[in-house]
Amino acid sequence: MDEIKVPKGLTNVIVDQTAIATTDATGNLLYRGYKVADLVDHSDFESTAYLVVNGRMPDNAERKDFIDSLRKYYGVSEQVQEVISILKEKDLMRSLRSLVSLYPYQNTESDKLMLEMAAKFPEFISLSYRLANGLKPLSPIDGTFTERFYHLITGKIDPEKARHVGMLMILYMEHEFNASTFALRVTASTLADPISAFTTALATLKGPLHGGANSEILDFFNKFKDGDEAVKYVDEQIAKGEKVMGFGHRIYKRLDPRAQQVKAKLKEIAGDSKVLQIAEAVENRMWERKSIPANLDFYAAIYMDTLGISQDFYTPLFAASRVFGWIAHYKEQLVGNKLIRPSSEYSGPTGLKL
Ligand code: COA
Repeated sequence: MDEIKVPKGLTNVIVDQTAIATTDATGNLLYRGYKVADLVDHSDFESTAYLVVNGRMPDNAERKDFIDSLRKYYGVSEQVQEVISILKEKDLMRSLRSLVSLYPYQNTESDKLMLEMAAKFPEFISLSYRLANGLKPLSPIDGTFTERFYHLITGKIDPEKARHVGMLMILYMEHEFNASTFALRVTASTLADPISAFTTALATLKGPLHGGANSEILDFFNKFKDGDEAVKYVDEQIAKGEKVMGFGHRIYKRLDPRAQQVKAKLKEIAGDSKVLQIAEAVENRMWERKSIPANLDFYAAIYMDTLGISQDFYTPLFAASRVFGWIAHYKEQLVGNKLIRPSSEYSGPTGLKL
């Protein structure tokens, strides 16, 4: 059998087809053929989630059915609450990953089970945070998916801020064969159930080179008093050969359009603030020194901070949105499925004797 050697990290290797998302020749991210920038400005979270999962924009009746089917699954059973109160896990991604893996699912049809999980992520996240920090559970409010989500993670009702969270969550929803989605597709290709596939995806998203990056950005960013301190930090990281979180991307080598869209939204809500000036100082310095652009996570972290969201929720928010992309990929993988099982080049010893 002929073997093909591919670059480390599968960089620039096309491993399969997808009809869910792509980046077009001019660098626009598309979901099912629509520019994500347009979805952010002219659609909402629920319609975009429907689009990603089902492959087309919903009409009014389909949109309502979709929202109703999510609503049907809202709420967390006493059994799950008990697990959360035993775990009392402050790292919300650890908690979410554990809760999903333990989820006592029945032999439900997989499409329904995946929607059930997506509907429950916000409450899993909120309850985990509150019980681990000695706070009472919140009674969820009615409202849109993101109004409800904003309330569950901040305890506040603020439709305008929730709308901004919704825009960010649209940008986080899908990105073709990113690491967590590819890991999920590997699991799906073994014909494992969706809960196992979501557990794989959550475990992969958690890593700091992927979804975990957004929860590390404020750790350094909030220490800067001005742009000069930011520039000094960038120079020091480069001198030490260390990465600056929130920069670099496997696909976007010159510009991450999602980051620029969040930056523009940040300007809308915060004006030409000091925070933005410092952010631009980091961005400009990274470009001058390494020609590496800011990615979505960099501006998303600053945006979420401005919206009053605690850093604990940054990667979980990513998960609560990306789960709709995962549903689409799980379904797509099973159409004409082939087990994903690459080969390796052995680099260890041979012929050892006992
Ligand atoms: N800070 C400093 N240098 C960086 C960097 C960063 N954030 N990202 C990449 N680089 C450098 C690497 O050190 C490497 O330099 P070298 O050629 O001198 O060794 C070069 O750029 C290529 O980086 P590499 O990690 O091989 O690129 P990649 O396509 O494999 O990686 C990421 C993409 C996202 C893993 C990488 O950019 C990264 O680790 N970023 C920080 C984490 C992050 O923000 N993740 C969220 C991604 S959306």
